[in-house]
Amino acid sequence: MVHDKISGLLDRMSLEDKIGQLNQICFKDAEQMRYEVRKGRVGSIVLAGTATAGNDEQKKMNFDLLNELQEIALKESPAGIPLIFGRDVIHGHHTVLPIPLALAASFNTELTKAAYRAIAKEAASDGVHWTFAPMLDVSRDPRWGRCIEGFGEDPYLTAKMGEAVIRGFQGENSRKADSIAACAKHYIGYAAVEGGRDYGKAEISEYTLRNNYLLPFKAAVNAEVATVMNSFNEVSGQPVAASRYILHDVLKDELGFDGFIISDWGAVAQLVNQRVAKDRKEAAMLCANAELDMDMADGCYIENLYKLVEEGTVLETTIDKMVYRVLYIKEKFGILDNPYICKCDIDYESSLKLSKECADESVVLLKNNDILPIDKSEKIAIVGNFTHEKRSLLGSWTLDGDVGMVKSIAEAFVDYAGSNNVVLSQSEYLTDEILFHLHKVDTVVIAIGESHRVTGENNCLSKIELPEAQVELIKQIKALGKKVVAVLCFGRPAALEEAEPYMDAVLYAWHSGTFTALSVKDIVYGLINPSGKLPMTMPRNTGQIPIYYNYPAMPRNGMSYYGTGSNYLDCMSTPMYPFGYGLSYTEFEYSDINCEKDDISVDELRRGEKFRISIMIKNIGKYSGKETVQCYISDLYASMTRPLRELKGFKKIFIESGKKEKVIFELGFEELGFYNANTEFNIEPGEFDVYIGKDCTAKSSVRITVV
Ligand code: BGC
Repeated sequence: MVHDKISGLLDRMSLEDKIGQLNQICFKDAEQMRYEVRKGRVGSIVLAGTATAGNDEQKKMNFDLLNELQEIALKESPAGIPLIFGRDVIHGHHTVLPIPLALAASFNTELTKAAYRAIAKEAASDGVHWTFAPMLDVSRDPRWGRCIEGFGEDPYLTAKMGEAVIRGFQGENSRKADSIAACAKHYIGYAAVEGGRDYGKAEISEYTLRNNYLLPFKAAVNAEVATVMNSFNEVSGQPVAASRYILHDVLKDELGFDGFIISDWGAVAQLVNQRVAKDRKEAAMLCANAELDMDMADGCYIENLYKLVEEGTVLETTIDKMVYRVLYIKEKFGILDNPYICKCDIDYESSLKLSKECADESVVLLKNNDILPIDKSEKIAIVGNFTHEKRSLLGSWTLDGDVGMVKSIAEAFVDYAGSNNVVLSQSEYLTDEILFHLHKVDTVVIAIGESHRVTGENNCLSKIELPEAQVELIKQIKALGKKVVAVLCFGRPAALEEAEPYMDAVLYAWHSGTFTALSVKDIVYGLINPSGKLPMTMPRNTGQIPIYYNYPAMPRNGMSYYGTGSNYLDCMSTPMYPFGYGLSYTEFEYSDINCEKDDISVDELRRGEKFRISIMIKNIGKYSGKETVQCYISDLYASMTRPLRELKGFKKIFIESGKKEKVIFELGFEELGFYNANTEFNIEPGEFDVYIGKDCTAKSSVRITVV
């Protein structure tokens, strides 16, 4: 039926009408947009005015204009097909959630799904049909500003978080007014840019491309993601935007993606900058023949496709296939039948509550020399550049968030403990005034961080160490004999080698959205037991980058670079804090790891049989709390080099103090297989050690054999 409806529409459309559907314009002068829509030259509008919308000051969005433009599309354009409006709803709309990298630290997919469901309703009520999220770029380089937009360094965690976000945005029923289409981006390998320099070259082998970068996109396709956005980078000398192999053969044919591909902003025209197209016309030809379905913002398709079809260098049948996909998604999300803005039933209270829970679970306690939590009645001081900060706590890509709703760390602490118990200063230097105040306290909260302006698109850093002034401040306060609680509000992992020894407690608060400060306050005062775990390795210094846990076994220095061996002479080989690491106020004890069956054959695994591995976790501390139980595999020998450890399961559970719980992981074909030298996803006979524990250095293990 859907097929007949779309084919019927296609049959009635002229070539110009069809090409119009493949053109996405940006939000510009209203009269200009009315004109282009009326002419049938527009299939979609990106609700952003500039190419780096996450960083630029955007004009307040005029959502009211959307219905008017929609009416023009329906009643005055030749084909009468409604527009699909897209906006970067990345980690919140009016309510702001933690940046995705922080949210990944929650390892809580159910909470993530619920929070994104709430955000979808807010965005849909403003007329947004489609968002350009989640970002599924597996990122091993904290210098890359965009690492904040993804879920860190691990393909499995990225896949699971991405799936949760997609299901949250798209809802159970995509035709409902409060479901919005998601977009898995940036396909593929964008985070692998050399040196973490945005838009740069990425050098990725087919083996790494498939085993590291493809997995989250495969999961997104299985979760029925509506759209995919290409990445700017090249792979093996070919820009992804023009790679038929990557866009058509792998994504559409092999993975079975049935939605449409949108170019990233200007990616078609940029083929000229990349010098693989002589001009915009050739760029349009290359991308259309790669079946990149919709062109974002640069106008190359609308200018050139008609001529290219006339000349025979692009076939009309190719255009038909591309338009079919666009119409299919418009139909699937109910836009063809209900094109106008429909106010959804939004429960702002519950959106806010979910945002707070997300922040609570995103904050990671990295160190605690028995000083946290502190008592409400203790007199403390707060110093540092983030004492009064608000805007940066929301993070980059906050297009519609309201900074008026954000409390600073100072406000959150004073509201709770009273101004008598909290002495404030925001200087980065130890002024006489601070010295005078510090004299009266034993514990100092040093709230420091980086601005959202040095994170996000095209905002990369060559050094990720704390600035000298911050390190000095920490050292000087420690030298006064104070207990130092560092609250670190960064978008990316910071290198703490120099400063960490002077900190008694470290709370990594990220840019965790509207409620960052309240969550920090709740954790510092023990109203909440922290449960965040690092989604990205924290290096000791910038020189260690890239450093990630799922590194392959090496020919010499066996376990290095992230294990027990050594590589650099002037630095330890271990990271500052490993992937998956995070403390709690309680202690979880792991015991009795066990596998039901020691060996299973390849054939049985193919048919769906799984290894079932269980472990007992007991809360032996005095606080109840949540723990993320993590399951890693280590393939002992294979036809290709394999990572020393790979995350293949995690479960976040709540255990009351003194209680215990059994957790079971299932490992089957998907978890134990990998793409081999022939690009086939396969499973090989052999032994695996399965490790279960608190982070990627987990010690409890059991051996399983694939026969
Ligand atoms: C970014 C995308 C974003 C698009 C639209 C581009 O510059 O790379 O991630 O979705 O702009 O704002």
